[in-house]
Amino acid sequence: MFTATTTAPVNIACIKYWGKRDTKLILPTNSSLSVTLDQDHLRSTTTSRADLTFTKDRLWLNGVEEEIKPVGRMATCIAEMKRLRKELVEKDSSAPPLSTYFVHIASFNNFPTAAGLASSASGFAALTASLAALYELPSPPTELSLIARQGSGSACRSLLGGFVAWNAGTLDSGLDSHAVQIAPETHWPDIHALICVVSDTKKGTSSTSGMQRTVETSPLLQHRIKHVVPQRMQDISAAILAKDFDRFAEITMADSNQFHAVCLDTSPPIFYMNDVSRAIIAVIEEYNRVGLLPENGGKRKAAYTYDAGPNAVIYAPAAHIKEIISMIVHFFPQQETFNDPFGLFGAAGVTATLAPSFNANVAKIWEAGSVKSLIHTKVGDGPRRLGQEHSVLGDDGFPK
Ligand code: DP6
Repeated sequence: MFTATTTAPVNIACIKYWGKRDTKLILPTNSSLSVTLDQDHLRSTTTSRADLTFTKDRLWLNGVEEEIKPVGRMATCIAEMKRLRKELVEKDSSAPPLSTYFVHIASFNNFPTAAGLASSASGFAALTASLAALYELPSPPTELSLIARQGSGSACRSLLGGFVAWNAGTLDSGLDSHAVQIAPETHWPDIHALICVVSDTKKGTSSTSGMQRTVETSPLLQHRIKHVVPQRMQDISAAILAKDFDRFAEITMADSNQFHAVCLDTSPPIFYMNDVSRAIIAVIEEYNRVGLLPENGGKRKAAYTYDAGPNAVIYAPAAHIKEIISMIVHFFPQQETFNDPFGLFGAAGVTATLAPSFNANVAKIWEAGSVKSLIHTKVGDGPRRLGQEHSVLGDDGFPK
């Protein structure tokens, strides 16, 4: 039986990808950089199987069959992976011609779609990694990232763990537009992340359509691409290598804010953050104001960043996370019990407290449920290959 199962992580960018210079190949207008989050907490699990009895390529996401549109992103990724298998078979005639077999692919996310976390990045990374395992490709992650990129731009960064840059590249072919690891998770394992899931009932503008509207209409985006991102990519890479959290935080927050500024500069404007998102910014800015006081060490202790939605991701050194959760819970009382994967609070659970000299007036106390839930995780590794017992396809070749 030809089958392989892998998991792939979510990544959250510190320098944001926003804008394409080629919408078919998914080539970006600027480089970007992200932190890969731990698959122990958030992951997509994908099983791919090739079999002579299958009659067409089929795909199921969370148990529901999705149409593989002829020239769509999914079809492109599958075709590209089959092309690599074909090349391998041409060199080694003893290898079964799996690229000529149809595939069944099933993928599950362990986080609810309703959490509003981008599942396309981990999903396309898991698809690419599972087909690479099925086809026994010797391709390194950077080469596979060229293919995941054509599924969803941000997915290319989920092929690697730790701190990952997606170099925009300059070639029309896209062959130099790939992900590279700046540092593995073991270099700076102290980077933790707290995801604040913000209630949002409205259906927002998708990343894909929003970013093209920005490319077409925003003069600020041109300034960002030419004069801001190149320097930030260098500066944040240096901060990561030096484990300089203060600088990392400063750049991450500035880049999130500029990303949302180019959204506002788009015509018609795009709003991803809401009042709760902005209140979290005020709280973290005040927390850092206190941290920056000379008597408190003179350094930033947390960094917020927001993607194309209202959820906050707060990066912080592990030592500050308990204090940050207590502070967030003060302003945003929780209805759900906090799932405490690192055992920070013990049996009594989360307590709402503010650090001394924190100005409590920077935000009001919101009604319970304004921040629906909190997810605590950390920097993590790249895709993992799992044993057959973890297959999400049953023996019959259909999702379990
Ligand atoms: C705001 O990768 O979802 O999360 O390439 O069209 O699939 P497509 O877009 P997508 O955009 C992600 C945008 C972002 C920033 C980032 O992850 O860098």
